[in-house]
Amino acid sequence: MLNLGGPETLDAVRPFLMRLFADHEIMPLPFQRWLGPFIAERRTPKVRERYAAIGGGSPILHWTRLQGQGMADWLDRISPETAPHRFYVAFRYTPPFAEDALRQMAADGVRRAVAFTQYPQFSCTTTGSSLNELWRAAEREGLEDAFHWSVIDRWPLHPGFLQSLAESIRAGLESFPAEERGQTMLLFSAHSLPMSVVKRGDAYPAEIEATVQAVMGLVGRQQPYRICYQSSVGPVPWLGPSTDDTIRELGKQGQRNVLVVPVAFTSDHIETLHEIDIEYGELAHAVGIRNFKRAPAFNGSPTFQRALAEVVAAHLRSGETCSAQYGQRCKGCSNPYCQTILQPAMGLPQVAPQEEVQEEATYAGLD
Ligand code: FES
Repeated sequence: MLNLGGPETLDAVRPFLMRLFADHEIMPLPFQRWLGPFIAERRTPKVRERYAAIGGGSPILHWTRLQGQGMADWLDRISPETAPHRFYVAFRYTPPFAEDALRQMAADGVRRAVAFTQYPQFSCTTTGSSLNELWRAAEREGLEDAFHWSVIDRWPLHPGFLQSLAESIRAGLESFPAEERGQTMLLFSAHSLPMSVVKRGDAYPAEIEATVQAVMGLVGRQQPYRICYQSSVGPVPWLGPSTDDTIRELGKQGQRNVLVVPVAFTSDHIETLHEIDIEYGELAHAVGIRNFKRAPAFNGSPTFQRALAEVVAAHLRSGETCSAQYGQRCKGCSNPYCQTILQPAMGLPQVAPQEEVQEEATYAGLD
């Protein structure tokens, strides 16, 4: 189960930011080895304050483990021919890392493995970075031949995921006055991307929109909705409209009821608990939005655990190594690890990483 991860304690914030700003696949910086630590150091106090405000750390590991166990239990029931199933967590910027998962898998005698992204919509900055790091970690650990891999690289339209999202939206709408529910604005909010990433052909915006269109078919086409993007940093252009500008605009238009729907996160973490609930909550209040709520994250939802199991079961039944889209490289991509798979279980030839070429820096002036 591949995901970003998050610091579990306040002392873990600095190393988390150091790793985040060192990753040129998510954040290409000029002079990264120098500028990355500099920005991480500067941002640490502010980010620590945010984690302190949500109880002192990220709950993402807790929820991922709960979801993983629920998924494995469901899989044993709905796919007995591939049982027993085990889950391993590989976070990108906080423990457990990819090497922790790989070592444990080797110790447990695993031979067949599915690299399962926990980002429903694909981006080279998230799923791409996690997969690339998984392959690099396998090489570092001398485990590149240890497992036969297939990859679940995206699932933006999986029926179980859409069902879980619709359930969360309906639960969120319940907290609005019954007579105003039908006019409540659904504000689908996803993490933003720098426009340089979008322009090179990243699949993420199209997949976010696909998820939203599909879930609106379940929720009801009469419900008004908007799509916006949160969490941009620095002066470079980012994919918009931004969530904060959209909230201001809705306030100006006299919208009094807004339900924010985090469409790209599978459990609570800093972007839901602090950015949406606290920062955007205060902004909404200031611009006159009377009822500003957030649809609950999937966290311990049994519907979502079953959805994860169904995603994996369908993948195993399909015999696919990865989606057809995973083979498509972005325009101008020179990253040797992108779209490679070590020891694929089925079909695809093994793709050997090529020599690395430094990508053009796109975050000049960040922070
Ligand atoms: Fe998209 Fe390499 S950055 S394939």
